Amino acid sequence: MSKRIAMMTGGGDCPGLNAVIRAVTRRALMEGWEIIGFRNGWVGVIKGDYINLDRQRVADILPLGGTILGTSRTNPTEEQIVTIADNLKKLGVTTLVAIGGDDTLSVASRLHKKGLPVIGVPKTIDNDIAGTDQTFGFDTAVNIATEAIDRVHTTAESHSRVLVVEIMGRQAGWIALYAGLAGGADVVLLPEFSMTLDEICNMIKARRATGKNYSIVAVAEGFKLGGGTVLQTKELDAFGHVRLGGIAERLCKDIEKATGVESRSVVLGHTQRGGTPTAFDRVLSTRYGVKAAELAISGQTGKMVALRGTDIVGVDFDSVITEQIDKKTGKPKLRMGNRSVPKELYDMAKVFFG
Ligand code: F6P
Repeated sequence: MSKRIAMMTGGGDCPGLNAVIRAVTRRALMEGWEIIGFRNGWVGVIKGDYINLDRQRVADILPLGGTILGTSRTNPTEEQIVTIADNLKKLGVTTLVAIGGDDTLSVASRLHKKGLPVIGVPKTIDNDIAGTDQTFGFDTAVNIATEAIDRVHTTAESHSRVLVVEIMGRQAGWIALYAGLAGGADVVLLPEFSMTLDEICNMIKARRATGKNYSIVAVAEGFKLGGGTVLQTKELDAFGHVRLGGIAERLCKDIEKATGVESRSVVLGHTQRGGTPTAFDRVLSTRYGVKAAELAISGQTGKMVALRGTDIVGVDFDSVITEQIDKKTGKPKLRMGNRSVPKELYDMAKVFFG
């Protein structure tokens, strides 16, 4: 029987997923391996719901956003992990390539701990996964957010308003930081660092004192105003996350009240995750996919592909997994480590605030 790679995509979708699927398929086909793709995240692995992937099926998907496999935020129970192990065995899967963010890769690491052959590919527009210098999808999201900041600049200036732009980033503010820097935002607010309403308003007032009657505030959705995040719903998803959203509107109202300057808010939301990947993300995804296939072919499982400097390497899951307390059960669980914006980088960005 020929060797078989299975792939799955989990968590929020992200530009570059299809480029990874194509690259894994094309590289594995070179060695005569079979490739299948489970549908809709871990659900498909649990149900044994898959499609065959071949050269024809992955043709023309390189620039396509989303994922041809479908995705979901499914967190398998211990019982379902056993089902997954059975299904992989039944389907003759030599290696499972799990393409996802910290949630999906945390599940992958649980499978690895149970001795299953898994390789991870770090995906998320949030860029918050430990062990790699960059996740794919991040560059595309930064470009979309930068264009949005560029666009609100002219309208903010014409109306002498404050424009507050809400950018994705649940626990790390990488997209807001990069887009804020690239777009010349006047204040950038991240989940990692606190700033009071007074400090924010003082920067806006100081700008006005120099004749700049408009300001752009780039805020990551996970920024904590007065110590707490702004929630869309308190309900926890399968991985124990609340749904964030609304910080821009809240800030907009508070800033207008405190400064007297007319303000508006814009939420970029899922536009940051949709559509075609940038050339950078297409190349990064392709390099990740080829490396994942090569690790599988050479039997090096229990690894996540990663960008280190300009090299693509395989890092041991064990070096990036941490034990954390589950918010739902209060019990310890394995989680992929997170990567936050370092203080030095934020301090550098502050040069351009106000
Ligand atoms: O994890 C990536 C992310 O885009 C976060 O920045 C955001 O909070 C979340 O996904 C939104 O998820 P959903 O697609 O479930 O609304």
